[in-house]
Amino acid sequence: MEVVITENPGIVAADAIAAHVRRGTVLGLATGSSPLPVYAELLRRRDAGAVVFDGVRAFTLDEYVGLPRSHPQSYYSVIRREFTDPAGIPVDGPDGEAADIQAEATRYEAAIRDAGGVDVQLLGIGTDGHIGFNEPGSSLASRTRVKTLTPQTRADNARFFDSADDVPVHVLTQGLGTILEAEHLVLVATGSGKAAAVAAAVEGPVGAMCPASVLQLHPYVTFVVDEAAAADLRLADYYRFVADHKPQDQGW
Ligand code: F6R
Repeated sequence: MEVVITENPGIVAADAIAAHVRRGTVLGLATGSSPLPVYAELLRRRDAGAVVFDGVRAFTLDEYVGLPRSHPQSYYSVIRREFTDPAGIPVDGPDGEAADIQAEATRYEAAIRDAGGVDVQLLGIGTDGHIGFNEPGSSLASRTRVKTLTPQTRADNARFFDSADDVPVHVLTQGLGTILEAEHLVLVATGSGKAAAVAAAVEGPVGAMCPASVLQLHPYVTFVVDEAAAADLRLADYYRFVADHKPQDQGW
């Protein structure tokens, strides 16, 4: 695992993702607030000719069940608006309105597999340690399926809706086992509200109480955090030392 503590998480995460981008790359995309600076930076680089998205395709992590894809807060709408439409990247996501939700989960797993798997997956982290919408108690080997959001996650996401009651209860999310199959995982976290979850994910025991802790089992993970989100990391000084002494030929 690499832990990068920086005042510019969007730029650092964009560096890590851009390093993978070439014709045929499969991107894994997260929604929510944390990735927005990353998408803005990637689009800025595309406009400057520093990155080209031709032949790139993308998959999202999760979707609210029962929210029409046309709803402005469906994750399919959000990712298209914030990134994939302006980038010209075709995107697939789990359809939370599918009549047969289990069949949709199976379809989605197959679609990712048929694309050759995800090359680089961008992740955020919930205040309760979820990645995707794998809430505490999720199987560390889980596949795409329906999950029930915790009251904490529904409260956290109420800012995107008119009222807290409007936040859907159920979601369709890639499982932890699904996410772990991506080649490179890049997790972005900012703000003091994420400090406890980041510390549990990076330095806590691996377990279902902090689903993001399963990333410790993956050989190629980059945590990109700002100072506030790094506040509870016991080895923060060591991570800074590692960054300062990163071998020159060691890229992302
Ligand atoms: C969204 C997702 C979630 C979010 C997490 C953090 O696709 O997978 O795990 O990344 O809830 O959300 P923000 O970034 O809004 O704090």
